[in-house]
Amino acid sequence: MKKIITSFLLLSSVAFSKETILVQGAMDMEVDYLIKSLENPTKNHIGGWTFWKGNIGEHDVIVSRTEVGLVNAAAATAIGIERYNPTIIINQGTSGGHDSSLHTGDIVLGTEVVNIGAIRTERKEEGISENMRDGIFFDVVQRLRDKDNNLTTHKVFKSDLSLIKVAKNIKYTNGKISEGVIGSADQWNREIERIKYLNTTFKTMTEEMESVAVAQTAKAYDIPFLAVRVLSNTEIHNEDFNPKTALWCQEFTLDVIKNIK
Ligand code: 5AD
Repeated sequence: MKKIITSFLLLSSVAFSKETILVQGAMDMEVDYLIKSLENPTKNHIGGWTFWKGNIGEHDVIVSRTEVGLVNAAAATAIGIERYNPTIIINQGTSGGHDSSLHTGDIVLGTEVVNIGAIRTERKEEGISENMRDGIFFDVVQRLRDKDNNLTTHKVFKSDLSLIKVAKNIKYTNGKISEGVIGSADQWNREIERIKYLNTTFKTMTEEMESVAVAQTAKAYDIPFLAVRVLSNTEIHNEDFNPKTALWCQEFTLDVIKNIK
């Protein structure tokens, strides 16, 4: 009898899909609600980066404060992977709108993420003025090497389709949910002509400063990744940074996590 009960317990635990989810935000206002949502949290500071490990429902969840920018995000992701072995990585937070269809509060699911700061130019002689439209996408920064020494150059990095599917079915009342390209760089662009240029060149819906570094690191380890960004501001419609959106994005992300089965 004891044996039957043990094998029943074993079987039921196999059917139970428990993930280890690394969920990130750059700034305190982008992680505070997620940290508060953890059951049994423990805090760990490694190098310049802080992690809070706990549970949400059946999942182990590690909230990571990456700090701002590509270097911070890449380092925090690599450390998070090596330390916690996540099976899913979610990067979420605020962003600035590029697409005229979007307003503050809207959410973009980054089906694709691209490094919009990776630009090279051809030689121009002295006296010939620079022009941002002459920039050429410098995709070597998105190149990865596999264990057999092969290099692959990535034009974009993609979010995992089954995670996108979970996210797009979440009920969200602070704006609409769109799917599209998220552009990342160590930049904050406020010039309308520059934003329009990025939107037409890269098809970016919104810009921020971390997702591509996370997506690229996740790809190197072949870990399913999801980029979720709320518009906290958009120059296109002259809408200033609204800090409440950082909470809305975390509430949305928490619902995504709860719906990963
Ligand atoms: N441009 C760039 N980064 C932005 N962020 C929010 N809005 C923008 C914007 N318009 C986010 C970045 C970074 C922090 C400064 O805010 O991802 O973490």
